[in-house]
Amino acid sequence: MKTNMTQGIFITGTGTEIGKTVIAGGLAASLKQAGMNVGVMKPISTGDTADAQFLKHAAQVDDERSSINPIYLRHPLAPSVAARMEGREIDVSCVETAFAALRQKYDFVIVEGVGGIAVPVQDDFLVVHLIKRLQLPILIVAEVGLGTLNHTLLTVAYARQFELQITGIVLNGLCPETAGLAEATNPAEIENLTGVPVIGVVPYEKQLDTAHPDVTFLAEFMNQHVAWQRLGIL
Ligand SMILES: Nc1ncnc2c1ncn2[C@@H]1O[C@H](COP(=O)(O)OP(=O)(O)OP(=O)(O)O)[C@@H](O)[C@H]1O
Ligand SMILES: [Mg+2]
Repeated sequence: MKTNMTQGIFITGTGTEIGKTVIAGGLAASLKQAGMNVGVMKPISTGDTADAQFLKHAAQVDDERSSINPIYLRHPLAPSVAARMEGREIDVSCVETAFAALRQKYDFVIVEGVGGIAVPVQDDFLVVHLIKRLQLPILIVAEVGLGTLNHTLLTVAYARQFELQITGIVLNGLCPETAGLAEATNPAEIENLTGVPVIGVVPYEKQLDTAHPDVTFLAEFMNQHVAWQRLGIL
């Protein structure tokens, strides 16, 4: 097993509800199945704590919710807006502390972002700044199909502006109707236009659309569709 220098990865996406949790959980389950000691984190959640629970289930870890998800805001809005509504200040240092603890405990930590990379966490502190703080390379999850080229190019360009290390892109199928020409042509087009490898195209799979999927199935399904070895972790 190769040790990744950064000991972790930040899973971001071209937007919200794009499949970050499913892909992050899939990576966790795959690494776990390969014998790796892997931890998970959803530093900031808004609305509910379902993502943290999914990731905890996928990685089969027993960490407290407060270490996996140190910041939870009740309203399902951008963190800066949700925090304002609760009259709270988001303390980014507590994310750093929780992350450092998980990094001590695990060989590799998978961190899921909130929304896309330009989502405001606090005033002018965006998700991209959080990624810089945690010093993690990113994996971008984008939706297969129409509109993806634009969203993916924008995300890659923005990430590059902040000198983030982009390890790959995963195209994810969010509904059964996504099969077709766009799905067939987008991977090569995206690689050509961005210079970032598309390490997988994940089809829609009904069994994944649940809070607690079968972890063996999750790992095997993802291994079938994503070339994780291209991330240089295994
Ligand atoms: N490949 C897939 N097959 C079937 N369902 C999927 C797939 N990918 C994602 N989904 C479903 O689509 C929805 C959105 O996915 P997910 O929660 O992973 O997105 P997200 O980017 O993490 O969203 P958020 O921004 O809220 O964190 C979920 O209900 C999930 O179960
Ligand atoms: Mg999520």
